[in-house]
Amino acid sequence: MPSRKTPSIHVLLGVLEALPPGQRLWVHGVGACLAPLLRGGDAVRVLRCGPGALERGDVALLRQGRKLVAQVVVSTRPWRTAPLLGGADAPGGVTLGRVVAVKRGRWVVPLPRPFRPALWMTQRTLAAVWARPGGRVVYRRVRDFFFSGWSRPFRRRLVGPLEVRLLRADDLDALLVFAGERLVVSTGFLRRQLRERWGLDASERRGAAAGAFDAEGRIRGFAWVDSYRQEALPLDGVWVRSLVVAPQARRMGVATRLLECLMAEARRQGEPRIQADVDDDNVASLHTFAGLGFRPAPPELTRRTNQAWDAAGRAKALVVLERELTP
Ligand SMILES: CC(C)(COP(=O)(O)OP(=O)(O)OC[C@H]1O[C@@H](n2cnc3c(N)ncnc32)[C@H](O)[C@@H]1OP(=O)(O)O)[C@@H](O)C(=O)NCCC(=O)NCCS
Repeated sequence: MPSRKTPSIHVLLGVLEALPPGQRLWVHGVGACLAPLLRGGDAVRVLRCGPGALERGDVALLRQGRKLVAQVVVSTRPWRTAPLLGGADAPGGVTLGRVVAVKRGRWVVPLPRPFRPALWMTQRTLAAVWARPGGRVVYRRVRDFFFSGWSRPFRRRLVGPLEVRLLRADDLDALLVFAGERLVVSTGFLRRQLRERWGLDASERRGAAAGAFDAEGRIRGFAWVDSYRQEALPLDGVWVRSLVVAPQARRMGVATRLLECLMAEARRQGEPRIQADVDDDNVASLHTFAGLGFRPAPPELTRRTNQAWDAAGRAKALVVLERELTP
């Protein structure tokens, strides 16, 4: 797989700020605020300019402290920008330029200026829907409908055959690209785990990570299993973490295959059982684990797990599941 080396944010900010007005540059990893149009790891093409050159409905590239974000300009007097789905405005950001095109995978989509009113209207509508109590549920239902059973034959053809296997040390580039798009785990943590635990030879391997690779070597689904103490949580045993399948590859059995691969490896490493904690409203995940024979853990473990996560600042209720790994 071709490696895409992303410059550090420090270098990128330096390059952008030194760029003369009117020059253009592709910038990766600022797309999260334009979700669902863009994902975290997608790229935007920026025309260097100041805030005076932007109008309502343009997409601005902003510097917020040491962070770069792309947001829709919702008003110029007073100056306000916001993510596509609404949420917190960014009054304090420094405007670095205007986004003139977006790149998602192989697709490059220009953002011509006549498109501005449409983008502004879209942002206002999405933000209003998203802000309503049921808005997120509706969005998830619509998304689930598109990525459910009826579209599976088309998606199978689009994605092609997937190889599910344990990650090796030389899968780091593919892992970092997937993580940039879909995980909220620090790249430093993943790099270290792969180098020091998951990517070692079988005799030394501790914990493991599995990926579903397409024909071009891209990861379309990922999960890992390891001790929670790796993440400084006071819980024993090994736990499934970061189970995520790209939407195009969902409902094709990818998560099931990833978990089977990780269960086989945990069993080989001598673990008696494997555990998972899942948001109590995550139907897809709960069904996936149930299909593999995971059952609710004893109430005491559920209580301690929720307590540990509450202490780490996470508010949602978790269902704790476990499965024996009989040889
Ligand atoms: C949860 C997730 C990993 C499942 O991945 P997947 O590859 O689609 O799962 P599988 O195809 O192996 O599904 C196995 C079974 O789970 C159930 N299932 C999966 N997705 C479902 C959904 N959206 N609704 C209802 N049941 C679902 C089905 O019974 C399915 O079997 P079937 O398709 O033969 O009916 C995926 O939806 C995802 O990445 N979600 C976002 C991230 C996330 O929530 N991760 C879990 C954190 S604990």
